[in-house]
Amino acid sequence: MGKYIIKGGKPLHGSVTVSGAKNAAVAIIPAAILVEGICRIENIPGISDVKLILEILEKMGAAVKYVDETTVDVDCTPMTITTTPGALCRKMRASYYILGALLGRFRRAQVDLPGGCNFGGARPIDQHIKGFEALGADVKVEYGMVSAKADELIGTEIYLDVVSVGATINIILAACKAKGTTVIENAAREPHIVDLANFLNSMGADIRGAGTNVIKVKGVEHLYGGTYSIIPDQIEAGTYMAAAAICGGDVLIKNVIPKHLDSISAKLTETGVVCEEYDDSVIVRRDGPLSAVNFKTQPYPGFPTDMQPQMSTLLCIAKGTSIVTENVYDNRFKYTSELAKMGADITVDNKTAVIKGVESLTGATVHASDLRAGAALVLAGLAAKGTTVVEDIYHIERGYESIVAKLTALGADIEKVEDEPETDVRPAKGAV
Ligand code: EPU
Repeated sequence: MGKYIIKGGKPLHGSVTVSGAKNAAVAIIPAAILVEGICRIENIPGISDVKLILEILEKMGAAVKYVDETTVDVDCTPMTITTTPGALCRKMRASYYILGALLGRFRRAQVDLPGGCNFGGARPIDQHIKGFEALGADVKVEYGMVSAKADELIGTEIYLDVVSVGATINIILAACKAKGTTVIENAAREPHIVDLANFLNSMGADIRGAGTNVIKVKGVEHLYGGTYSIIPDQIEAGTYMAAAAICGGDVLIKNVIPKHLDSISAKLTETGVVCEEYDDSVIVRRDGPLSAVNFKTQPYPGFPTDMQPQMSTLLCIAKGTSIVTENVYDNRFKYTSELAKMGADITVDNKTAVIKGVESLTGATVHASDLRAGAALVLAGLAAKGTTVVEDIYHIERGYESIVAKLTALGADIEKVEDEPETDVRPAKGAV
């Protein structure tokens, strides 16, 4: 599984290039199921979640071929299997996009209930199911699987009870080849939803309004292969911005869409950090103390929940008391008990964390319970006095490409070591 050993206290200087967006890639790759012909997908991030979703499609009959490190050809034309390979699917959340795409193409699908980040609270998929049913599918959840089938899918109006990224994407996928027009109201507006819609439109779909809360999908008969480049990862960029802010120094973050980072830049600026935006890069600089701020997570364009652990970690060493409200998930503060081991002063009550800034954090052995929690602990380790060991880093490698190399290039002291095999420390029989 491996762990990171971090010797903290070094400012960061230099530049880092952001990879393609994880959450766009894991939606666009299964969307290729709807396409006849080869989808050449560029700017693919080198992370384990992407490798996994490609492996799942391959096992279902797709032809997958890497052209270079960041470009992959996916051809789902030969695919006939409409049931996912269970064990692999249960490892990641986004495997549920296969459901919408299979339903859209074959009018039937059977997909294992998704895994992925476990924050401690429930992550229901009732809105996905409601959308599929509204389109005319018969949906059942049994034996750990979701099955959906329909004689035909017919466009309709669907109002989402909660703003859900996954449900918005899944309904778009199922509606792409439905008869007539589907209108999704109270849709999520995240950049990767726009990216998915752009991908599908470039292959022949007719999707309008992505990026607003009303999305209209006019069904088409066929989608044809083509080439598409994935947007840069908003959260990876935000994580390096937070890294520069917590460590101090001066970092140029390249290959970003600054507009996607507005809520993060604005909040960092309030803490006393300088964020300068350029066309496709941002510079983050800090040479003075950090100030406490309050923030609430919201669906896009609000402050992203996927930056909440990293931002909260920064506030652990800001002067004063900060209040963080998590509005997207019921429970996403599990990681704070790990930060407490490093000297953080955080009190959590339901959806709110009260963070009293301390002078500095100190190194400890901590455990990454999910992807962003893991990223937050890496940031804590970079800023802490002494040595931090972050365990269970497979969570981090699901979503951050070459994080050790990228941070090392910025001057951080971080290395990955593989876990040693467990040794039996009991004395051998007969030994004294
Ligand atoms: N929800 C429901 N019913 C549903 C769907 C969602 O009640 O049918 C609730 C959820 O429980 C949650 C809220 O709605 O409280 C928002 O969930 P959403 O569906 O938007 O989340 P998701 O699609 O499961 C994606 C990202 C997450 C990110 C969220 C919110 C992917 C693969 N995952 O998850 O990313 O936190 O949107 O922005 O796109 C991450 O990258 O670390 C990560 C967890």
